[in-house]
Order: sequence, then C-alpha cells, then structure tokens
Amino acid sequence: MARVLIADDDSAQRHIMASILKGEGHDVLEASSAEEALERLQQRACEVVLTDMRMPGQGGLHLVESAMKLSPAPEVVVVTAFGSVDTAVKAMRLGAYDYLNKPLDRDELVLLVQRASEKFGLRRDTQRWQQASRVNIGQGLVAESAIMKTILETICLVSQSDSTVLIQGESGTGKERVAKLIHSGSTRKGKPMMSINCSAFPETLLEAELYGYEKGAFTGATSRKIGLLETAEGSTLFLDEVGDMPLSLQAKLLRVLQEREIRRVGGTASIPVDLRILAATNRNLPEAIRQGSFREDLFYRLNVIPIFIPPLRERKEDIPPLVSQLLAHPSRRKSIAPEALVVLLRYDWPGNVRELEAVLERISVLTRNSEIQIEDLPVELRQGKPKSTATQSIGSGFDLPDEGIIFEDVERDLMIQALERSQGIMVDAAKLLGMTYRTFQYRAVKFGLKGQ
Ligand SMILES: Nc1ncnc2c1ncn2[C@@H]1O[C@H](COP(=O)(O)OP(=O)(O)OP(=O)(O)O)[C@@H](O)[C@H]1O
Ligand SMILES: [Mg+2]
Repeated sequence: MARVLIADDDSAQRHIMASILKGEGHDVLEASSAEEALERLQQRACEVVLTDMRMPGQGGLHLVESAMKLSPAPEVVVVTAFGSVDTAVKAMRLGAYDYLNKPLDRDELVLLVQRASEKFGLRRDTQRWQQASRVNIGQGLVAESAIMKTILETICLVSQSDSTVLIQGESGTGKERVAKLIHSGSTRKGKPMMSINCSAFPETLLEAELYGYEKGAFTGATSRKIGLLETAEGSTLFLDEVGDMPLSLQAKLLRVLQEREIRRVGGTASIPVDLRILAATNRNLPEAIRQGSFREDLFYRLNVIPIFIPPLRERKEDIPPLVSQLLAHPSRRKSIAPEALVVLLRYDWPGNVRELEAVLERISVLTRNSEIQIEDLPVELRQGKPKSTATQSIGSGFDLPDEGIIFEDVERDLMIQALERSQGIMVDAAKLLGMTYRTFQYRAVKFGLKGQ
C-alpha cells in the first residue's frame, strides 16, 4: 500500500483513477493542478505521483521537475494522450519513472503504481542504509581528503556485495584496516574474518594453512587439518601480501576463485566453499605480471573491485585529523603545538599512517608536556628527510621561451635521456620520468625509440 497523489484537471478522469487505486488499498490524494499538487506534496510526502501532462497553469512537466527536488522525491508516473510519446520521453528525462497512455487500462495502472511504489521503497532503503553505514562502517577511519572520502564510499558499497576486492597501497597506508571495515559492514560480519599473510610462510606451509591436509598427506601429517579456506566458510578470508604468493599456489587460488571449491592436500574430494575473498598487496602487481612473478589471470580475478590507497604524503589533509585521533587516545591525551603539526605536515612519511602512529606513540611516552612541541619531535622529522625519488618533481625548473617549444621534441629528448641513463631498460626509464611503464612504452613506440 502506498500514498499516491493524482494530479489531473479533468475531475471525472481523476475520480476514476482514484477509485481504482483506493480499491487496491492505496491511500489516495487528489489535486486539480500542478500548483495544488506541489502544495500537497510539500505538506505530505507521497511515494507515487500520477500526473496528467496537460493542465491549465503549469503543466505536468513542471510538476515532474519540482517533484524531483523534494526529499524524499516520489516516483512520478505521467499520463499522456495517446501518441504523444515525445512528452513522455521528456518527462522521463526529467526523472519520471514511467508513463501511461490514455485511455487508461485498469490493470496497467494498478501494476505500474505498484512497481513505482516498490521502486520508491527500494530507493529509500538504500539511502537509509547508506546513511547508516557511512556512520557505522567508517567508524574510526580518518577520511578527510577527497580521495579517502571516495574510498569510504567504495567501502560502504562493496561491503554490501560479495565481490572480490583488491586493496593496493604502500606499506602502512591502511589496507588491513580497510579490509576489516569491509567485512564488518557486510552480511558476513557475524563470523570473524580470517586473515593470512602470504609472505610469512614458505610455500608448502602456506598451502597447508590455506587448504588444510588429510592425515598422512606428508610426513608429519598425523591428523587431518582444516585450512583457512574452509574455516572461513560463510565469512571473509583476507589474503594479505597476496603479491608474494608463490606461482604454484597462485594457480591453485585461481581455481578456488573460479570454481568455489577446494581440495585438501592429500585429499581427493572437492569441498564447496562459500567465502568472500579480500586481498591486499603493497607490490606493484602489473609490474610483477610483466616480470612473470604474478599471474595475470589471477590479477583480474582478484581485481574485481580495486581500491588503491594513496600514500599519506599525497593526502596530507588526513594528517591533522589522524594526529588528533591518535592523541585523543585515553592512554595519551595530549595536544600538539601548531608549529609541531606543521613539521608533521612537511614530512614525507615513507611508512605512512603506521609510521605516524609509531612516532606519536613514542613522543607520548617520552614527553611530559601535555602539548607536544617541536623539540619533542624526532630529529629526522625536524630535519625533513630527503624526498624519495619516486615523489620528487623537477618542479618548474623550465621556463617556457617566448617563441614557445615543440612539446613532442622535448618529450622525445627527455625519453632518450632517460633510456640512456637506465641502459635501455624501459621500466627504469619510465620511473625517471614519473610515468607508468605502459605510458612510456606507448610513447616510445610513437617516437620510434628502442628499449627493453
Ligand atoms: N585512515 C585511517 N584512519 C585511522 N587509522 C588508520 C587509517 N589508515 C591506517 N590507519 C592505522 O594505521 C595502521 C596501519 O594500517 P594497516 O595495518 O591497515 O596498514 P597496511 O596497509 O595493511 O600496512 P602493511 O602493508 O604494512 O601491512 C593501523 O593501526 C591502522 O589502524
Ligand atoms: Mg597489512
């Protein structure tokens, strides 16, 4: 049952529609013009609006446009004279849900209003959920920078699905934290997320940890062991440092992702598994693929939803709120002098958020001041370490001459220099110019440059 508003200047037509819809159990309001309809909508929110197109005063199109601005906006169905598809299309471009042709067909009317009200409900639920989850899911995650806000949105959205997510980012950027948030916002949150660090085990042990084994599978296998892929049944498995997984196990993991079943080491039975996989790496996987240490097909299977967390130095807006959050911790309860915060903002943070955490923890233990001063900061921060080459930019050491330049010549020249300096290795040359390998390779072909 929905609340439906009918706007039509033809009272007979309006009454017919109203009585049909009332007969279906809907709560029906009526208006004889667009203006009156709007007024009523502002007083009482409706789920569905049925409007005639041609009415004296402002017509149906105006009503559609204004109704879309309401919050919550109703689903609007327009009623058009037979053959006037153009107006119907216009209305739908403005956001109307659908249209009905006159003369009205009773069943069509009933069905369409029902569908429109379902659509309204769905939209409302999603909005509510998104609002709620933004508050709940993101708890404690500092996301002040635009890029972190986008990541937070993505976290909210993907936690509602079962898709595989690949989280990439430098060490200490918060990959594991993001994985935990995705799990805790998902329908699988009732069971704990299982995690494994793929770089922490030698190949055979990692295989045993993931797949488990049958008794007697190898010397020392005195009893059956259930692996993480099975333990994570109904939950989430977080594969940390997936870029470090040995090639043979990559092939095996690919099969799990494709077939959703596993086989224990030394076992013969295929066991179906229902789990969601989240993976993270601080390695550059496309590069690893080129070097042959990571399978391309597995990359695509994992990278269904990519989340790339940029290094902290590229989102310095996050530093002040991170500092506040860390210092507000009950065990610390300190504040920071503005000059000291400036030092933190200038620093490069090669170890990202984890390094920031460690630094603040150290200072909190070592200083008695309740406000952290510049002198309290470690020396390397005060001096500001040299920037890593990856982020260094030549800035604007180059002044454009009055007569201008031929950009492609300059570009080609720089690429040649970069290739010479890196002995013709394109990957290295690309790095010198701050380009991706792909971009470099593409341009090299364009300019007829040779490298390897
Ligand atoms: N946006 C953030 N807001 C609050 N805390 C954060 C944020 N990002 C990271 N952290 C904190 O920083 C620390 C490091 O994060 P995490 O362990 O998730 O990083 P990681 O990318 O998995 O690092 P590594 O590659 O070294 O495993 C954690 O204590 C985490 O809670
Ligand atoms: Mg980690």
